Formats: sequence, structure tokens, C-alpha cells
Amino acid sequence: MRKLIAGMKVSVDAKMEGPEGTADWVEAWSDDYGVMAQVDACLLGGGMYPGYERYWTAIQTEPDKPAWITGNPPTPAELAYARFVARTPHHVLSSTLTSALWAGTSFVRGLEDVAALKQRPGKDIYLVGGARTTASLIDAGLVDELRLIVHPLVAGVGKALFATTQGRRGLSLREVRQLDGGRVSLVYGIG
Ligand SMILES: NC(=O)c1ccc[n+]([C@@H]2O[C@H](COP(=O)([O-])OP(=O)(O)OC[C@H]3O[C@@H](n4cnc5c(N)ncnc54)[C@H](OP(=O)(O)O)[C@@H]3O)[C@@H](O)[C@H]2O)c1
Repeated sequence: MRKLIAGMKVSVDAKMEGPEGTADWVEAWSDDYGVMAQVDACLLGGGMYPGYERYWTAIQTEPDKPAWITGNPPTPAELAYARFVARTPHHVLSSTLTSALWAGTSFVRGLEDVAALKQRPGKDIYLVGGARTTASLIDAGLVDELRLIVHPLVAGVGKALFATTQGRRGLSLREVRQLDGGRVSLVYGIG
């Protein structure tokens, strides 16, 4: 069965973003999890999808301009992720959204659809976020691996990755790497 691999950039207190709705401590929204080569589909929540579509469409169409959110020109790794986005089907978990700009985007309506997606033949699936979707899919036992990039700050007030998590779940540490800028990459298996 295909694995569902979640990748999240968080502060030390596991915040995904600050009170203003962005993680201004993240310098680039590149794939720092090394997930692109092993997946052929992305899954994300209806809450984050419109902003995600806007961010990567802007980089695809105007790669020389400062990117929305970071305010910096896209990095080479962000440009690589923008190309990955263009060739990779995206599945959006939502009971309310019905349309998307990208032809490769389709909608899944509940946990059974996510379980069915994992049963289809193919490479692994990248769970892009957001917080509520990741928490609910971990609770449902559908996420196989959690890859965190921990940034060196206590963010304080903000949206926590596990704010809506219901159940306790053990994790097995698979890999730890120190990255530049004081960041740490952690890979956990979810049993
Ligand atoms: N730091 C990072 O690495 C990172 C990564 C990704 C996202 N983010 C941030 O996270 C934020 C978005 O997170 P979020 O928690 O607000 O929203 P979200 O998880 O993207 O989306 C939540 C929505 O997904 C749907 N959903 C979730 N679980 C479901 C289930 N079990 N069954 C059916 N539908 C389900 C529902 O959509 P409907 O209401 O339409 O049914 C729900 O309202 C964004 O601001 C983004 O910037 C940060």
C-alpha cells in the first residue's frame, strides 16, 4: 500500500503559523523533507488549498518576482517545487470546496476516500497540510510517516499542529539531521 507522508515546518512549540496567519520564520516553502522523488500525488486540506494554489501559481507564472508570504524571490528549491506541483495530481480533502484553478486538482470528501486513495496503485502520497487535516488523518491512523522541520524559536500564540488531535499515538524516530539556520529535520514512523 502507498504510504501517506506528512511534512510540516514548525516552531519548537509546534506552531505552524503565528497569530497573523503566516509562519514568517520560514524563509522558503521548498521541499526540505526530501519527499518529491518518492511521491506521485499530494493531499491537502480545504483550509490551506486556496492559499497554496495562489502561492505556487504566482511562482509558476512570475518566477522572478518576490513570492507572496516570504516576500523573497523564489529560491532554486522553491522553483523545483513549483515544477513538481505542475506535474503532480493534488487531492483536496473538503466537504465544501468544489472548484480549483489547476486541472490536476480533484476533491476527496472524507476519511474513506483518503483510505481508498492509499489503496490505489502508485508511489507514495505527500500530505502537505494543514494542521486540522494532518491531525485528523493521524487520529484516523492514515498517516504513515511524519517529517518535521523544527525551527529554532518558541512562536507563542499561533496555530498549533496538534491543536485538534484527539488521541495519543506512539512514534518511532527514524532519522535526525541538523540543517542550516539552526533547523532540525526529524522523521518519525507512525505505528
Ligand atoms: N508550517 C507548515 O509547514 C504548514 C504546512 C501546511 C499548511 N500550513 C498552514 O496551515 C493552515 C491551514 O491549516 P488549517 O488547519 O486551518 O486547515 P486545513 O487542515 O488545510 O483544512 C481544514 C479543512 O479540511 C477539511 N478536512 C479536514 N479533515 C477532514 C476530514 N477528516 N474529513 C473531511 N474534511 C476534512 C475540512 O474542509 P471543509 O470545511 O471544506 O469540509 C476542514 O475545514 C494554513 O494557514 C497554512 O499556512 C502550514
